[in-house]
Amino acid sequence: MAINDISRISRPMLGVLAVFAFPALAHAGARFDPATHQFRLDGGAVTYAFGVNSAGALQSLYWGPQLAATDRLEAVTPPDLSGMDPSSSITPQEYPGWGRGFYTEPALKLAYPNGARDVVLTFVSGHAEGDSITVEMADIARPLHVSLRYTIDPATGIVGRSAIIRNDTAAPVRIDQASSAAWSLPQSDDYHLHYLTGRWAAEWTLQDRAITQGATVIESRRGSTGMQANPWFAIDRAGLTSEENGPVWFGALAWSGSWRISVDRNPMGDVRVVGGFNPFDFAYRLKPGETLETPVFYAGYSDQGMGGASRLMHHFERTKILPQSSAPKLRPILYNSWEATEFAVNEKGQMALAEKAAQIGVERFVMDDGWFGARNTDHAGLGDWTVNRTKFPNGLKPLIDKVHSLGMEFGLWVEPEMVNPDSDLYRAHPDWVINFPGRPRSEQRNQLMLNLARSDVRDFVLKAIDDLVSKNDIQFLKWDYNRNWSEPGWPEVDPQDQPRIYVAYIRNLYGIFAELRKRHPKLEIEDCSGGGGRVDLGIMGLTDQVWTSDNTDPFDRLSIQDGFTHAYAPAVMMDWVTDSPSWVNKRTTTLDYRFLSAMQGSLGIGADLNKWTETDFAGAARMVAAYKQVRQTVQQGDLYRLIRPTDASERAATLYVSPDRRQAVLFAFLHSSTKYDPQSRIHLAGLDPEKQYRVHAIDAAPGAVGETQSGAYWMRYGADVSMTGDFQARGLVFEEL
Ligand code: GLA
Repeated sequence: MAINDISRISRPMLGVLAVFAFPALAHAGARFDPATHQFRLDGGAVTYAFGVNSAGALQSLYWGPQLAATDRLEAVTPPDLSGMDPSSSITPQEYPGWGRGFYTEPALKLAYPNGARDVVLTFVSGHAEGDSITVEMADIARPLHVSLRYTIDPATGIVGRSAIIRNDTAAPVRIDQASSAAWSLPQSDDYHLHYLTGRWAAEWTLQDRAITQGATVIESRRGSTGMQANPWFAIDRAGLTSEENGPVWFGALAWSGSWRISVDRNPMGDVRVVGGFNPFDFAYRLKPGETLETPVFYAGYSDQGMGGASRLMHHFERTKILPQSSAPKLRPILYNSWEATEFAVNEKGQMALAEKAAQIGVERFVMDDGWFGARNTDHAGLGDWTVNRTKFPNGLKPLIDKVHSLGMEFGLWVEPEMVNPDSDLYRAHPDWVINFPGRPRSEQRNQLMLNLARSDVRDFVLKAIDDLVSKNDIQFLKWDYNRNWSEPGWPEVDPQDQPRIYVAYIRNLYGIFAELRKRHPKLEIEDCSGGGGRVDLGIMGLTDQVWTSDNTDPFDRLSIQDGFTHAYAPAVMMDWVTDSPSWVNKRTTTLDYRFLSAMQGSLGIGADLNKWTETDFAGAARMVAAYKQVRQTVQQGDLYRLIRPTDASERAATLYVSPDRRQAVLFAFLHSSTKYDPQSRIHLAGLDPEKQYRVHAIDAAPGAVGETQSGAYWMRYGADVSMTGDFQARGLVFEEL
């Protein structure tokens, strides 16, 4: 969007409240002009501005490419369009309460004991400091207060928004809907919405639909993030935006419980995105003096297409969200035994796998499910976090010592939020699970959910995992979560307070992660939920990496990983090399193809090494060594999706460029050759056009010399990456001379 497009968000000149201008020198950060009651956030290449209009409402003014410091904006209260569309409903409010005439998605809806159910928020005060703004709002008649928080990331221009609702009335107030933010886009009639959907073994499917009048709702009612939809959106302009060009507004919620994002276009053509706690089955009773804080909803803008939008997200996650953001550590190459052994783990078998994994350069050995309690299938044992003495007669120590002696870290699978009815824990505490009294306790994967909202259950889970990590020399946990909620009751509290479980559970989960990290600063955690079922910016703030999908077929993974990287960074995306034919679809692929597919994120190996030949070991060692040469670029560089692996595409290609542009890594894949079809050159991106780059195969012997050309040549003339056959792959590295 060009700068002069801001005219699109101004209204017919009625009720002009004020204009404002900021000092030309102080351009980045947060500003509040008390004279005009206008706010502005500048960061990256983005400006976000809002102000108080003549009705006292907080109104969006601008969100897009950066404006000049001297530019003036106007907070114009739109007039009533008619008796049917009053000003109150069509004003692009920053945080609309459901009150007065308001007919689109509110941010806040509540109910008082006397039956009144409206809230009309007006501006009280504002404050800007550094990169943050706080705005105090109050209802027009009752002491019901809302603090709105804004921050802007100076590097990416990503804005974080949340709200704290405070009941200062003398009676309880029931919050029926509490969003984190409402985002207003400039007026345009060609917006397209992109979002991610999926199911088990098929997560991260990119959806795309025109934003016409009416609402699109993406959500989870499952108690957790879910793989059926992910709390991320991107909106582009159909005619203008491509993978690398044009405007994209995007955002993601930092919440791992039930959530909702609604995108609607009102009769005026205004597009708004409202997101936060899912209002479905939500009812949060605030006693006098109590507060409810929403999750943070982050959103940004790029004029470099979907690719630019995801690079901003990746950078923001690496530098601002992940626990290691201050000092990012490269992801160790991991081996996980799940696909090799399933539940049949034991000391001898795991030691044998560990020896083989060490031979190929693995850095972290992870024992998956089956090591604890009476866990031989998924019918029993969850909840009993003591070592199974039949499988490990001497405890875990001999295995852990062995793994360490082989030069690898040791990691363990846990699923602490769950219990099998067939477990000692459930027999002792049948009341600890989420349930509605007198109703069936629906099992999924033969398990029930512990009610983490209860403080005794939270304390048990924290202690069980803390003991495990304290008593064993464990560097890593794979933290799994293999079902969704049902019968979401909390019988021990007043029925009116039971729905608080949706918030209290997640806050306690976050508290457990935070406390574990505090007590064990070197411990790393992988977030897993039957695959990629609980990936969001909330849990990413407390975990180091995520399991992308149980589907490890390397061709299916191309599109799964493509969808994933639209929202989340390759650095956290765990990709394993597993056996061929794949258990998912019986597809046969070469070991090199499997490696090149998995090397596009954080590399792991999940194959049954007992079945490998000498050739497999040699090939794997070669590819692991190659990955170590490029992983910094893959994990911390800029990703360009050069050819997206849509269902129809014959080829797919990704490129990773190091931040200093000295190294670029190209992964290219061919589904199948047909009729001698010529393959066009692949055009690189992100290189320095003036510099010379020499290319070599990713697994070339040291010193191999390949073609040298300028960055301009590789980007404009392109690289010949021809392949022939079915399921072919090539990896090329371009090094600056
Ligand atoms: C889930 C995970 C798998 C594996 C199994 C173990 O399905 O996604 O990777 O850990 O649980 O039961």
